[in-house]
Amino acid sequence: MNQIQLSPALPRQTSRAYHAEHGILTEAWRPLGGPENVLDQIIVKTIAEKHEVSAGQVALRWAVQQGIVPIPSSSNPSRWKANADLFSFELDERDMRDLETLDLGEATAWDARTHEEW
Ligand SMILES: NC(=O)c1ccc[n+]([C@@H]2O[C@H](COP(=O)([O-])OP(=O)(O)OC[C@H]3O[C@@H](n4cnc5c(N)ncnc54)[C@H](OP(=O)(O)O)[C@@H]3O)[C@@H](O)[C@H]2O)c1
Repeated sequence: MNQIQLSPALPRQTSRAYHAEHGILTEAWRPLGGPENVLDQIIVKTIAEKHEVSAGQVALRWAVQQGIVPIPSSSNPSRWKANADLFSFELDERDMRDLETLDLGEATAWDARTHEEW
């Protein structure tokens, strides 16, 4: 398992391809993409409305649906429940395509060689 910064704004395709090739499970930190304002994006809000879930659930479901393990954190008990409730809806192909447009590019991710976080 390798834990990397990952959200719809930072899909980390290169790292994930390496993981897939070497049998490594991808775990996402900062999966809600706070600094990248993922949850405020109109695309995310529109998809959330369509499925009657929160924007946070859309971001987390996007990860789970691709075999990524997201680790969200929250100090709010109602969000703990919602953030774990990811299996009562499914993002369709169009949702996934729309979410692809949020990719800010690999250069936006923090460089783990120079920036350590836990
Ligand atoms: N391995 C590493 O290098 C590394 C680095 C960073 C973090 N981590 C770990 O990864 C986990 C998450 O990290 P993170 O806190 O940076 O990212 P995160 O889980 O993406 O974001 C947490 C923030 O989002 C808010 N939030 C949670 N659920 C929400 C929802 N459904 N809707 C809207 N806002 C929501 C929380 O606020 P409220 O508390 O108000 O809900 C909190 O401010 C933590 O367990 C952390 O320890 C690991």
